[in-house]
Amino acid sequence: MKQASLVIDPDFTVGDIDHRLFGALAEHMGRCIYTGIFEPGHPTADEHGFRADVVDLVRELGTTLVRYPGGNFVSGYRWEDGVGPVNNRPARLDMAWQSREPNTFGLNEFHRWTELTRQQPMMAVNLGTRGVHEAADLVEYCNHPGGSALSDLRKAHGRPTPFGIKLWCLGNEMDGPWQIGHKTAYEYGRLAREAATAMKSIDPSIEVVACGSSNGNMPTFGDWEATVLSECYDETDYLSLHAYYGQGTQDLGSFLASAAHMDAFIDGVIATADHVRAKLRRRKRIQLSFDEWNVWYTDTFKGGDWAKAPRLSEDNFNVADAVVVGNMFMSLLRHADRVAVACLAQLVNVLGPIRTQPDGPAWKQTIFHPFALTAANARGQVLRNTLRSPRYETTEYGDVDLVDTVVTYDAESGQLVVFAVNRDTSEPVALHLAHRDLKCIGPGSHTVLADKDHQAMNTQADSHRVEVRTSATDPHDPRGELDVLLEPLSWSMLRLPVQRPS
Ligand code: AHR
Repeated sequence: MKQASLVIDPDFTVGDIDHRLFGALAEHMGRCIYTGIFEPGHPTADEHGFRADVVDLVRELGTTLVRYPGGNFVSGYRWEDGVGPVNNRPARLDMAWQSREPNTFGLNEFHRWTELTRQQPMMAVNLGTRGVHEAADLVEYCNHPGGSALSDLRKAHGRPTPFGIKLWCLGNEMDGPWQIGHKTAYEYGRLAREAATAMKSIDPSIEVVACGSSNGNMPTFGDWEATVLSECYDETDYLSLHAYYGQGTQDLGSFLASAAHMDAFIDGVIATADHVRAKLRRRKRIQLSFDEWNVWYTDTFKGGDWAKAPRLSEDNFNVADAVVVGNMFMSLLRHADRVAVACLAQLVNVLGPIRTQPDGPAWKQTIFHPFALTAANARGQVLRNTLRSPRYETTEYGDVDLVDTVVTYDAESGQLVVFAVNRDTSEPVALHLAHRDLKCIGPGSHTVLADKDHQAMNTQADSHRVEVRTSATDPHDPRGELDVLLEPLSWSMLRLPVQRPS
Protein backbone atom coordinates (compact mmCIF):
# COMPACT_ATOMS: atom_id res chain seq x y z
CA MET A 1 0.00 0.00 0.00
CA LYS A 2 1.13 3.55 -0.67
CA GLN A 3 2.30 5.37 2.47
CA ALA A 4 2.38 9.03 3.52
CA SER A 5 3.56 10.47 6.82
CA LEU A 6 2.93 13.64 8.73
CA VAL A 7 4.74 15.07 11.77
CA ILE A 8 2.94 17.66 13.87
CA ASP A 9 4.54 20.00 16.36
CA PRO A 10 2.41 22.67 18.09
CA ASP A 11 5.40 25.03 18.30
CA PHE A 12 5.74 25.22 14.51
CA THR A 13 2.91 27.48 13.43
CA VAL A 14 1.92 29.28 10.23
CA GLY A 15 -0.49 31.76 11.78
CA ASP A 16 -3.85 32.43 13.43
CA ILE A 17 -7.00 31.49 11.55
CA ASP A 18 -9.02 34.61 10.71
CA HIS A 19 -12.76 33.93 11.04
CA ARG A 20 -13.27 35.90 7.79
CA LEU A 21 -11.78 32.99 5.81
CA PHE A 22 -15.21 31.36 5.94
CA GLY A 23 -16.97 33.85 3.66
CA ALA A 24 -19.09 33.60 0.50
CA LEU A 25 -20.18 35.82 -2.39
CA ALA A 26 -23.87 36.70 -2.80
CA GLU A 27 -24.15 38.46 -6.16
CA HIS A 28 -27.12 39.80 -8.09
CA MET A 29 -26.49 37.09 -10.67
CA GLY A 30 -28.86 34.40 -11.87
CA ARG A 31 -30.85 33.06 -8.92
CA CYS A 32 -28.46 33.74 -6.07
CA ILE A 33 -30.61 36.55 -4.65
CA TYR A 34 -34.03 36.20 -6.33
CA THR A 35 -35.56 32.75 -5.63
CA GLY A 36 -32.30 31.95 -3.79
CA ILE A 37 -32.11 33.86 -0.55
CA PHE A 38 -35.10 36.15 -1.30
CA GLU A 39 -38.45 34.84 -2.48
CA PRO A 40 -41.53 36.61 -1.09
CA GLY A 41 -44.45 34.19 -1.21
CA HIS A 42 -42.29 31.09 -0.78
CA PRO A 43 -43.86 28.74 1.82
CA THR A 44 -40.90 29.31 4.16
CA ALA A 45 -40.50 33.07 3.51
CA ASP A 46 -40.66 35.45 6.48
CA GLU A 47 -42.32 38.87 6.42
CA HIS A 48 -39.28 40.31 4.62
CA GLY A 49 -39.31 37.65 1.89
CA PHE A 50 -36.24 35.77 3.18
CA ARG A 51 -36.46 32.01 2.66
CA ALA A 52 -36.16 30.35 6.08
CA ASP A 53 -35.03 27.04 4.55
CA VAL A 54 -32.06 28.89 3.02
CA VAL A 55 -31.35 30.80 6.24
CA ASP A 56 -31.15 27.46 8.07
CA LEU A 57 -28.76 26.03 5.49
CA VAL A 58 -26.59 29.16 5.52
CA ARG A 59 -26.31 28.87 9.31
CA GLU A 60 -25.37 25.21 8.98
CA LEU A 61 -22.83 26.05 6.27
CA GLY A 62 -21.24 28.39 8.80
CA THR A 63 -20.29 31.29 6.55
CA THR A 64 -19.07 34.21 8.63
CA LEU A 65 -18.89 36.92 5.98
CA VAL A 66 -20.82 37.72 2.82
CA ARG A 67 -19.54 39.79 -0.11
CA TYR A 68 -22.19 41.83 -1.95
CA PRO A 69 -23.58 42.90 -4.49
CA GLY A 70 -21.00 41.46 -6.93
CA GLY A 71 -19.01 40.23 -8.76
CA ASN A 72 -19.31 41.66 -12.25
CA PHE A 73 -22.78 43.02 -11.38
CA VAL A 74 -21.34 45.76 -9.20
CA SER A 75 -19.54 47.44 -12.12
CA GLY A 76 -22.82 48.80 -13.52
CA TYR A 77 -24.78 49.11 -10.26
CA ARG A 78 -26.34 52.23 -8.76
CA TRP A 79 -26.67 51.48 -5.05
CA GLU A 80 -29.37 54.18 -4.65
CA ASP A 81 -31.73 51.97 -6.72
CA GLY A 82 -31.84 49.43 -3.91
CA VAL A 83 -32.78 51.62 -0.93
CA GLY A 84 -36.01 53.21 0.30
CA PRO A 85 -39.62 52.25 -0.43
CA VAL A 86 -39.67 49.20 -2.68
CA ASN A 87 -42.50 50.51 -4.85
CA ASN A 88 -40.38 53.50 -5.87
CA ARG A 89 -37.38 51.44 -6.98
CA PRO A 90 -36.61 51.25 -10.69
CA ALA A 91 -36.15 48.07 -12.71
CA ARG A 92 -32.85 48.24 -14.59
CA LEU A 93 -30.99 46.33 -17.26
CA ASP A 94 -28.01 44.59 -15.67
CA MET A 95 -25.30 44.78 -18.32
CA ALA A 96 -23.02 42.20 -16.68
CA TRP A 97 -25.45 39.28 -16.91
CA GLN A 98 -27.98 40.66 -19.42
CA SER A 99 -30.71 40.28 -16.83
CA ARG A 100 -33.55 42.47 -15.56
CA GLU A 101 -32.77 43.78 -12.10
CA PRO A 102 -36.00 44.63 -10.23
CA ASN A 103 -34.17 46.15 -7.24
CA THR A 104 -36.72 44.70 -4.82
CA PHE A 105 -33.71 43.42 -2.88
CA GLY A 106 -31.05 46.02 -2.17
CA LEU A 107 -28.75 47.34 0.50
CA ASN A 108 -31.39 47.56 3.27
CA GLU A 109 -32.59 43.99 2.65
CA PHE A 110 -29.01 42.75 2.40
CA HIS A 111 -28.06 44.28 5.71
CA ARG A 112 -31.14 42.89 7.43
CA TRP A 113 -30.36 39.43 5.98
CA THR A 114 -26.75 39.52 7.22
CA GLU A 115 -28.08 40.30 10.71
CA LEU A 116 -30.51 37.40 10.48
CA THR A 117 -27.81 34.98 9.33
CA ARG A 118 -25.18 36.46 11.69
CA GLN A 119 -22.68 37.22 8.93
CA GLN A 120 -20.32 40.15 8.54
CA PRO A 121 -21.10 42.20 5.40
CA MET A 122 -18.35 42.92 2.86
CA MET A 123 -19.52 45.64 0.47
CA ALA A 124 -18.23 46.29 -3.05
CA VAL A 125 -18.37 49.74 -4.66
CA ASN A 126 -18.80 50.35 -8.39
CA LEU A 127 -15.51 51.54 -9.90
CA GLY A 128 -16.56 50.48 -13.42
CA THR A 129 -19.19 53.02 -14.49
CA ARG A 130 -18.93 55.16 -11.34
CA GLY A 131 -16.21 56.74 -9.28
CA VAL A 132 -14.91 58.39 -6.13
CA HIS A 133 -17.99 60.40 -5.22
CA GLU A 134 -20.51 57.56 -5.40
CA ALA A 135 -18.19 55.29 -3.42
CA ALA A 136 -17.84 57.88 -0.65
CA ASP A 137 -21.63 58.47 -0.72
CA LEU A 138 -22.23 54.79 -0.10
CA VAL A 139 -19.91 54.82 2.93
CA GLU A 140 -21.78 57.88 4.23
CA TYR A 141 -25.17 56.17 3.80
CA CYS A 142 -23.99 52.99 5.52
CA ASN A 143 -21.64 54.16 8.24
CA HIS A 144 -22.16 57.82 9.15
CA PRO A 145 -24.19 58.22 12.38
CA GLY A 146 -26.42 61.10 11.21
CA GLY A 147 -26.77 64.82 10.53
CA SER A 148 -25.84 64.59 6.84
CA ALA A 149 -28.07 64.09 3.80
CA LEU A 150 -27.22 60.44 3.17
CA SER A 151 -27.00 59.28 6.77
CA ASP A 152 -30.37 60.94 7.42
CA LEU A 153 -31.73 59.24 4.34
CA ARG A 154 -30.74 55.87 5.86
CA LYS A 155 -32.61 56.88 9.00
CA ALA A 156 -35.64 57.85 6.93
CA HIS A 157 -35.42 54.36 5.42
CA GLY A 158 -35.93 52.89 8.89
CA ARG A 159 -32.31 52.23 9.88
CA PRO A 160 -31.47 54.70 12.71
CA THR A 161 -28.11 53.18 13.61
CA PRO A 162 -25.21 52.96 11.15
CA PHE A 163 -24.56 49.60 9.49
CA GLY A 164 -20.90 49.91 10.45
CA ILE A 165 -19.65 48.01 7.41
CA LYS A 166 -15.96 47.47 7.96
CA LEU A 167 -14.71 45.73 4.81
CA TRP A 168 -15.00 47.29 1.33
CA CYS A 169 -14.01 46.07 -2.15
CA LEU A 170 -12.73 48.76 -4.52
CA GLY A 171 -14.56 47.43 -7.59
CA ASN A 172 -14.39 43.94 -9.04
CA GLU A 173 -12.00 42.23 -11.49
CA MET A 174 -11.02 45.52 -13.09
CA ASP A 175 -8.24 43.76 -15.07
CA GLY A 176 -10.79 41.69 -17.04
CA PRO A 177 -11.70 42.91 -20.55
CA TRP A 178 -15.25 41.59 -19.82
CA GLN A 179 -15.61 44.00 -16.91
CA ILE A 180 -17.89 47.00 -17.46
CA GLY A 181 -15.56 49.98 -17.19
CA HIS A 182 -12.44 47.78 -17.55
CA LYS A 183 -9.24 49.74 -16.86
CA THR A 184 -5.51 49.50 -17.26
CA ALA A 185 -3.55 48.72 -14.11
CA TYR A 186 -2.35 52.31 -13.86
CA GLU A 187 -5.82 53.80 -14.38
CA TYR A 188 -7.29 51.44 -11.81
CA GLY A 189 -4.49 51.91 -9.28
CA ARG A 190 -4.99 55.68 -9.35
CA LEU A 191 -8.77 55.38 -9.06
CA ALA A 192 -8.46 52.86 -6.22
CA ARG A 193 -6.20 55.27 -4.36
CA GLU A 194 -8.57 58.22 -4.80
CA ALA A 195 -11.66 56.17 -3.91
CA ALA A 196 -10.01 54.65 -0.81
CA THR A 197 -8.87 58.08 0.37
CA ALA A 198 -12.36 59.56 0.03
CA MET A 199 -14.07 56.54 1.60
CA LYS A 200 -11.65 56.50 4.54
CA SER A 201 -12.10 60.23 5.06
CA ILE A 202 -15.83 59.55 5.64
CA ASP A 203 -15.08 56.57 7.92
CA PRO A 204 -11.41 56.08 8.89
CA SER A 205 -12.19 52.74 10.54
CA ILE A 206 -12.95 50.92 7.27
CA GLU A 207 -10.58 48.54 5.47
CA VAL A 208 -10.38 48.28 1.70
CA VAL A 209 -9.56 45.56 -0.80
CA ALA A 210 -7.93 46.52 -4.11
CA CYS A 211 -8.53 44.31 -7.15
CA GLY A 212 -5.78 41.89 -8.01
CA SER A 213 -5.97 39.68 -11.11
CA SER A 214 -9.18 37.86 -12.05
CA ASN A 215 -7.15 34.67 -12.09
CA GLY A 216 -3.54 33.55 -12.14
CA ASN A 217 -3.65 32.83 -15.90
CA MET A 218 -4.47 36.38 -16.96
CA PRO A 219 -1.81 37.69 -19.39
CA THR A 220 -1.31 40.71 -17.13
CA PHE A 221 -0.95 38.66 -13.90
CA GLY A 222 1.99 39.90 -11.83
CA ASP A 223 2.39 43.18 -13.70
CA TRP A 224 -1.18 44.11 -12.76
CA GLU A 225 -0.57 43.55 -9.04
CA ALA A 226 2.78 45.39 -9.12
CA THR A 227 1.40 48.45 -10.94
CA VAL A 228 -1.82 48.67 -8.94
CA LEU A 229 -0.02 48.39 -5.61
CA SER A 230 2.62 50.89 -6.67
CA GLU A 231 -0.23 53.39 -7.06
CA CYS A 232 -2.27 52.58 -3.93
CA TYR A 233 -0.03 50.70 -1.47
CA ASP A 234 -0.53 53.07 1.45
CA GLU A 235 -4.31 53.31 1.07
CA THR A 236 -4.90 49.57 0.59
CA ASP A 237 -5.30 46.91 3.27
CA TYR A 238 -5.92 43.82 1.15
CA LEU A 239 -5.33 42.69 -2.43
CA SER A 240 -7.88 40.35 -4.02
CA LEU A 241 -7.37 37.00 -5.76
CA HIS A 242 -9.97 35.00 -7.69
CA ALA A 243 -9.73 31.41 -8.98
CA TYR A 244 -12.13 28.86 -10.43
CA TYR A 245 -11.14 25.37 -11.50
CA GLY A 246 -13.16 23.11 -13.77
CA GLN A 247 -13.35 19.47 -14.67
CA GLY A 248 -15.08 20.50 -17.89
CA THR A 249 -11.81 21.82 -19.25
CA GLN A 250 -9.28 19.76 -17.27
CA ASP A 251 -8.37 16.06 -17.06
CA LEU A 252 -9.25 14.50 -13.68
CA GLY A 253 -5.64 14.16 -12.45
CA SER A 254 -4.94 17.85 -13.06
CA PHE A 255 -8.29 18.91 -11.69
CA LEU A 256 -7.62 17.06 -8.44
CA ALA A 257 -4.36 19.02 -8.13
CA SER A 258 -6.12 22.41 -8.37
CA ALA A 259 -5.02 23.32 -4.83
CA ALA A 260 -1.38 22.98 -5.90
CA HIS A 261 -2.02 25.63 -8.56
CA MET A 262 -3.83 27.74 -5.96
CA ASP A 263 -0.81 27.50 -3.63
CA ALA A 264 1.48 28.74 -6.40
CA PHE A 265 -0.94 31.55 -7.29
CA ILE A 266 -1.07 32.77 -3.67
CA ASP A 267 2.72 32.54 -3.34
CA GLY A 268 3.10 34.59 -6.55
CA VAL A 269 0.80 37.35 -5.27
CA ILE A 270 2.60 37.46 -1.91
CA ALA A 271 5.96 37.76 -3.71
CA THR A 272 4.66 40.60 -5.90
CA ALA A 273 3.09 42.50 -2.99
CA ASP A 274 6.30 42.16 -0.99
CA HIS A 275 8.34 43.30 -3.99
CA VAL A 276 6.34 46.55 -4.05
CA ARG A 277 6.76 46.82 -0.28
CA ALA A 278 10.53 46.55 -0.64
CA LYS A 279 10.61 49.01 -3.54
CA LEU A 280 8.57 51.56 -1.58
CA ARG A 281 10.47 50.81 1.65
CA ARG A 282 7.27 50.29 3.63
CA ARG A 283 6.77 48.39 6.88
CA LYS A 284 3.17 47.46 6.27
CA ARG A 285 2.50 44.13 4.58
CA ILE A 286 -0.50 43.82 2.28
CA GLN A 287 -2.79 40.96 3.33
CA LEU A 288 -4.78 38.94 0.81
CA SER A 289 -8.50 38.60 0.23
CA PHE A 290 -9.26 35.48 -1.84
CA ASP A 291 -12.76 36.74 -2.41
CA GLU A 292 -13.85 34.38 -5.20
CA TRP A 293 -12.91 30.71 -5.25
CA ASN A 294 -14.68 27.55 -6.35
CA VAL A 295 -15.09 24.91 -9.01
CA TRP A 296 -16.86 26.15 -12.16
CA TYR A 297 -17.90 24.18 -15.27
CA THR A 298 -20.13 26.47 -17.29
CA ASP A 299 -17.78 29.30 -18.12
CA THR A 300 -19.35 29.79 -21.57
CA PHE A 301 -21.82 32.50 -20.66
CA LYS A 302 -24.75 32.83 -23.05
CA GLY A 303 -26.53 35.83 -21.52
CA GLY A 304 -29.71 36.10 -19.49
CA ASP A 305 -32.02 37.45 -22.25
CA TRP A 306 -32.99 40.33 -19.94
CA ALA A 307 -35.06 37.98 -17.78
CA LYS A 308 -35.41 38.42 -14.02
CA ALA A 309 -33.26 35.84 -12.21
CA PRO A 310 -32.43 33.57 -15.18
CA ARG A 311 -30.79 30.22 -14.43
CA LEU A 312 -27.08 31.04 -14.76
CA SER A 313 -24.15 28.80 -13.80
CA GLU A 314 -26.27 26.39 -11.75
CA ASP A 315 -23.56 23.77 -11.76
CA ASN A 316 -24.29 20.37 -10.24
CA PHE A 317 -21.31 19.41 -8.12
CA ASN A 318 -20.15 15.82 -7.67
CA VAL A 319 -17.87 14.01 -5.22
CA ALA A 320 -14.67 14.94 -7.08
CA ASP A 321 -15.72 18.61 -6.97
CA ALA A 322 -16.26 18.36 -3.22
CA VAL A 323 -12.78 16.87 -2.75
CA VAL A 324 -11.29 19.74 -4.77
CA VAL A 325 -13.27 22.38 -2.86
CA GLY A 326 -12.16 20.85 0.45
CA ASN A 327 -8.60 20.88 -0.83
CA MET A 328 -8.81 24.50 -2.00
CA PHE A 329 -9.96 25.43 1.50
CA MET A 330 -6.82 23.67 2.79
CA SER A 331 -4.70 25.85 0.51
CA LEU A 332 -6.30 28.97 2.01
CA LEU A 333 -5.64 27.74 5.55
CA ARG A 334 -2.05 26.87 4.67
CA HIS A 335 -1.56 30.58 3.90
CA ALA A 336 -3.22 31.80 7.09
CA ASP A 337 -0.32 34.18 7.72
CA ARG A 338 -1.25 36.21 4.60
CA VAL A 339 -4.77 35.25 3.50
CA ALA A 340 -7.12 36.95 5.93
CA VAL A 341 -10.39 36.97 3.98
CA ALA A 342 -11.89 34.44 1.56
CA CYS A 343 -15.26 33.97 -0.16
CA LEU A 344 -16.59 30.85 -1.78
CA ALA A 345 -18.30 32.02 -4.98
CA GLN A 346 -21.14 31.88 -4.71
CA LEU A 347 -23.55 31.06 -1.89
CA VAL A 348 -26.86 29.94 -3.41
CA ASN A 349 -27.72 28.48 -6.84
CA VAL A 350 -24.98 30.25 -8.85
CA LEU A 351 -22.10 27.79 -8.29
CA GLY A 352 -23.67 27.41 -4.87
CA PRO A 353 -23.18 24.90 -2.10
CA ILE A 354 -26.91 25.53 -1.52
CA ARG A 355 -29.45 24.87 -4.26
CA THR A 356 -33.11 25.90 -4.38
CA GLN A 357 -36.18 25.41 -6.51
CA PRO A 358 -38.47 28.43 -6.88
CA ASP A 359 -41.51 27.71 -4.72
CA GLY A 360 -39.83 24.38 -3.86
CA PRO A 361 -37.20 22.86 -1.61
CA ALA A 362 -33.59 23.79 -0.83
CA TRP A 363 -30.81 21.21 -0.53
CA LYS A 364 -27.06 20.78 0.01
CA GLN A 365 -24.75 20.21 -2.93
CA THR A 366 -21.71 17.95 -2.36
CA ILE A 367 -19.37 20.92 -1.84
CA PHE A 368 -21.50 22.02 1.12
CA HIS A 369 -19.98 19.28 3.29
CA PRO A 370 -16.23 20.05 3.23
CA PHE A 371 -16.99 23.77 3.49
CA ALA A 372 -19.29 23.41 6.51
CA LEU A 373 -16.96 21.00 8.30
CA THR A 374 -13.91 23.18 7.71
CA ALA A 375 -15.75 26.32 8.83
CA ALA A 376 -16.94 24.55 11.99
CA ASN A 377 -13.65 22.91 12.95
CA ALA A 378 -10.66 24.93 11.71
CA ARG A 379 -9.91 26.99 14.82
CA GLY A 380 -6.91 28.47 16.56
CA GLN A 381 -3.72 28.24 14.55
CA VAL A 382 -2.52 26.48 11.42
CA LEU A 383 0.54 24.32 12.06
CA ARG A 384 3.37 23.98 9.57
CA ASN A 385 3.00 21.05 7.19
CA THR A 386 5.76 18.44 7.35
CA LEU A 387 4.28 15.88 5.00
CA ARG A 388 5.95 13.13 3.01
CA SER A 389 3.77 11.80 0.25
CA PRO A 390 4.10 9.72 -2.89
CA ARG A 391 3.86 11.90 -6.00
CA TYR A 392 1.99 11.62 -9.30
CA GLU A 393 2.33 13.24 -12.69
CA THR A 394 -0.32 15.69 -13.90
CA THR A 395 -0.61 17.08 -17.43
CA GLU A 396 -1.10 20.64 -16.24
CA TYR A 397 0.97 21.01 -13.10
CA GLY A 398 3.74 18.42 -13.43
CA ASP A 399 4.70 16.34 -10.40
CA VAL A 400 2.28 16.80 -7.47
CA ASP A 401 1.83 15.16 -4.02
CA LEU A 402 -0.77 12.39 -4.04
CA VAL A 403 -1.79 13.27 -0.50
CA ASP A 404 -2.25 16.78 0.80
CA THR A 405 -2.79 17.76 4.44
CA VAL A 406 -3.26 20.82 6.59
CA VAL A 407 -3.38 20.83 10.39
CA THR A 408 -5.06 23.22 12.80
CA TYR A 409 -4.61 23.31 16.56
CA ASP A 410 -6.80 25.15 19.01
CA ALA A 411 -4.96 25.33 22.34
CA GLU A 412 -8.07 26.65 24.09
CA SER A 413 -10.37 23.74 23.28
CA GLY A 414 -7.53 21.22 22.94
CA GLN A 415 -8.63 20.16 19.48
CA LEU A 416 -6.19 19.06 16.81
CA VAL A 417 -7.72 18.78 13.35
CA VAL A 418 -6.05 17.20 10.33
CA PHE A 419 -7.63 17.85 6.95
CA ALA A 420 -6.41 15.46 4.25
CA VAL A 421 -7.13 14.56 0.65
CA ASN A 422 -6.09 11.49 -1.29
CA ARG A 423 -5.85 12.35 -4.99
CA ASP A 424 -5.33 8.76 -6.04
CA THR A 425 -8.49 7.79 -7.94
CA SER A 426 -8.16 4.03 -7.44
CA GLU A 427 -6.00 3.20 -4.40
CA PRO A 428 -6.09 4.11 -0.71
CA VAL A 429 -3.06 5.64 0.98
CA ALA A 430 -1.99 4.85 4.56
CA LEU A 431 -1.26 8.07 6.44
CA HIS A 432 1.02 7.82 9.48
CA LEU A 433 0.66 10.67 11.92
CA ALA A 434 3.13 11.53 14.67
CA HIS A 435 2.46 14.43 16.99
CA ARG A 436 5.19 15.72 19.18
CA ASP A 437 4.50 17.33 22.50
CA LEU A 438 0.76 16.65 22.33
CA LYS A 439 -0.94 13.83 24.22
CA CYS A 440 -4.16 12.38 22.88
CA ILE A 441 -6.67 12.34 25.75
CA GLY A 442 -9.63 10.57 24.26
CA PRO A 443 -11.08 8.91 21.21
CA GLY A 444 -10.92 10.96 18.04
CA SER A 445 -13.11 10.91 14.97
CA HIS A 446 -12.49 10.47 11.26
CA THR A 447 -15.00 12.07 8.87
CA VAL A 448 -14.78 11.09 5.20
CA LEU A 449 -16.29 12.33 1.98
CA ALA A 450 -15.79 9.69 -0.71
CA ASP A 451 -17.90 7.50 -2.97
CA LYS A 452 -17.24 4.60 -5.33
CA ASP A 453 -18.86 6.80 -7.98
CA HIS A 454 -16.94 10.06 -7.93
CA GLN A 455 -19.53 11.55 -10.29
CA ALA A 456 -22.27 11.07 -7.68
CA MET A 457 -24.16 14.23 -6.76
CA ASN A 458 -27.15 15.48 -4.80
CA THR A 459 -30.25 16.42 -6.76
CA GLN A 460 -33.75 17.58 -5.88
CA ALA A 461 -34.99 13.99 -6.27
CA ASP A 462 -32.09 12.46 -4.31
CA SER A 463 -30.85 15.28 -2.12
CA HIS A 464 -28.96 13.08 0.39
CA ARG A 465 -27.18 10.86 -2.13
CA VAL A 466 -23.76 12.19 -1.07
CA GLU A 467 -23.16 12.59 2.66
CA VAL A 468 -20.10 12.31 4.92
CA ARG A 469 -19.37 9.28 7.12
CA THR A 470 -17.84 9.55 10.60
CA SER A 471 -16.14 6.79 12.58
CA ALA A 472 -13.96 6.64 15.70
CA THR A 473 -10.20 6.69 15.14
CA ASP A 474 -8.06 3.75 16.26
CA PRO A 475 -6.64 4.03 19.76
CA HIS A 476 -3.48 6.07 19.94
CA ASP A 477 -0.07 4.58 20.33
CA PRO A 478 1.40 5.88 23.66
CA ARG A 479 4.16 7.57 21.61
CA GLY A 480 1.49 9.80 20.06
CA GLU A 481 1.26 8.06 16.71
CA LEU A 482 -1.76 7.15 14.64
CA ASP A 483 -2.36 5.34 11.35
CA VAL A 484 -5.29 6.27 9.17
CA LEU A 485 -6.45 4.96 5.85
CA LEU A 486 -7.30 7.62 3.26
CA GLU A 487 -9.82 6.19 0.80
CA PRO A 488 -9.28 6.67 -2.93
CA LEU A 489 -10.36 10.12 -4.15
CA SER A 490 -11.42 11.35 -0.74
CA TRP A 491 -11.49 14.34 1.57
CA SER A 492 -11.00 13.58 5.28
CA MET A 493 -11.14 15.39 8.58
CA LEU A 494 -9.56 13.90 11.71
CA ARG A 495 -10.50 15.44 15.04
CA LEU A 496 -8.26 14.53 17.94
CA PRO A 497 -8.68 15.75 21.52
CA VAL A 498 -5.18 16.55 22.77
CA GLN A 499 -3.39 18.06 25.75
CA ARG A 500 0.02 19.68 25.98
CA PRO A 501 1.93 18.23 28.93
CA SER A 502 2.76 21.11 31.29
O1 AHR B 1 -18.88 34.43 -9.49
C1 AHR B 1 -19.22 34.65 -10.83
C2 AHR B 1 -18.41 35.74 -11.49
O2 AHR B 1 -17.08 35.30 -11.65
C3 AHR B 1 -18.27 37.05 -10.77
O3 AHR B 1 -19.33 37.91 -11.01
C4 AHR B 1 -17.02 37.62 -11.33
O4 AHR B 1 -16.35 38.47 -10.43
C5 AHR B 1 -16.19 36.40 -11.71
O5 AHR B 1 -15.66 36.50 -12.98
